[in-house]
Amino acid sequence: MNNNKKGALSLTFIALLVIVEGIERAQFPPSFLFGTSTSSYQIEGAVSEGNRGPSNWDIFTHLPGKVKDGSNGDIADNHYHLYEEDVNLMHSLGVNSYRFSISWSRILPRGRFGEVNQVGVAFYNNLIDSLLLRRIQPFVTLNHFDIPQELETRYGAWLSPKIQKDFAYFAEVCFEEFGDRVKFWSTFNEPNLMLKFGYLNGNHPPGRCSEPFGNCSFGDSSTEPYIAAHNIILSHARAVGIYKNIYQEKQGGSVGIVIMTRWYEPLRNITVDISAAQRALSFEMAWFLDPLLHGDYPIEMRRVLGSRLPTFTDEEKIKLRNGMDFIGVNHYTSLYVKDCMFSPCELDKFSGNALVFATSQRNGVPIGASTGMPTMFVVPHGYSQRSDGVSLNDLLNDTNRVEFLKSYLSSVATAVRQGADVRGYFIWSLMDNFEWTLGYSVGFGLYHVDSKTQVRTPKLSAKWYEQFLSGGLETDLKSSA
Ligand code: NOJ
Repeated sequence: MNNNKKGALSLTFIALLVIVEGIERAQFPPSFLFGTSTSSYQIEGAVSEGNRGPSNWDIFTHLPGKVKDGSNGDIADNHYHLYEEDVNLMHSLGVNSYRFSISWSRILPRGRFGEVNQVGVAFYNNLIDSLLLRRIQPFVTLNHFDIPQELETRYGAWLSPKIQKDFAYFAEVCFEEFGDRVKFWSTFNEPNLMLKFGYLNGNHPPGRCSEPFGNCSFGDSSTEPYIAAHNIILSHARAVGIYKNIYQEKQGGSVGIVIMTRWYEPLRNITVDISAAQRALSFEMAWFLDPLLHGDYPIEMRRVLGSRLPTFTDEEKIKLRNGMDFIGVNHYTSLYVKDCMFSPCELDKFSGNALVFATSQRNGVPIGASTGMPTMFVVPHGYSQRSDGVSLNDLLNDTNRVEFLKSYLSSVATAVRQGADVRGYFIWSLMDNFEWTLGYSVGFGLYHVDSKTQVRTPKLSAKWYEQFLSGGLETDLKSSA
């Protein structure tokens, strides 16, 4: 993708699960990015060190009852102190890239209302240099859910257009400080999921919502997710504008966005369910991608929401169309949906105003195997394990994750052969970490992390990934247990 600015990096959404035995590194071009991913709040810890300012997640996780196991990211994987060890783990895996996010409140503890924190800048400089020394390309996300709390307190964060200026300022500081070495920038990780949880269901900060989608003491699920999204889309456009006008030519990198999407299949083969599946996709993926590719929201959203959906000026529409060099897709699971617009039924809370019922079963048959996350099924996606009440032996012997990775990569290879322009695949995650409101009760890592000693232990999946990346055969794969 380096020299092809128009390239689309898509981690693809494939409804078909094609199991091809013997998936090999050689089935992908040498330039294909194979990496692992993490995010700042989920792994760094050291929340009060190095002049870092409080983030919205620091405040939220310390409110009683917000996180399943009562935990928080105060220490997390202590990556702030152990980053060299973690880079070495990646080096031993043989990855050529690493997707991580920058903690906004470590760089700008008070947003644009304070100084740039040089201690924070030094931390990311060290991390980036350490990666490059081991030939691992940094793939940097500017925002992965955590923001300086000051922006929330001052003006209501994403609900205010003022945040566009803050985000653009933050992005420019990062381009300036790190862009000489970072060639892949993602403005946001899963802004659609962040808003559904933050403003539709209210179970992530700022915890705003209204019935029937959630039970909060403040908020309005019928309008606020769309207002917040509008500000994110325009924040993205400002950051991209700055990168393209000032930095891209001299730094030679690319900028894009990472969107999360479930795939939706009609529950019944009837027109209203086929439209419902389309509508659910529009309210999830096209909500962000249509404005960034075509300059406006999808028609399905306008039909349902009318004036509750904000509008772009003509000037904004033109700016938006130059919206990105690549698209990243985080695909978690697939579900069946049924229409609730024409015959009222129980609304899927996550799809919200798309007015659909979602289910993982058709005629009693599950859409895919279950995982540690109650809402995720392998159709395929990132494999989560339950961590609570499971022996270390079983945690390390994660054969299901290995099978999952093989089948998902087979699907990606098939898509590439059929012409999909896919340039990379990042496994979530390098190591078990703080899984938001589920705390440490599920683990997505290739490495298990002991929360007391911080010892990282490779799971079977880490060994499999290492062998896959080196082109080796699987036969000598052994459980570490
Ligand atoms: C991807 C999200 O970006 C990440 O933060 C989350 O931990 C995983 N999905 C698993 O839910």
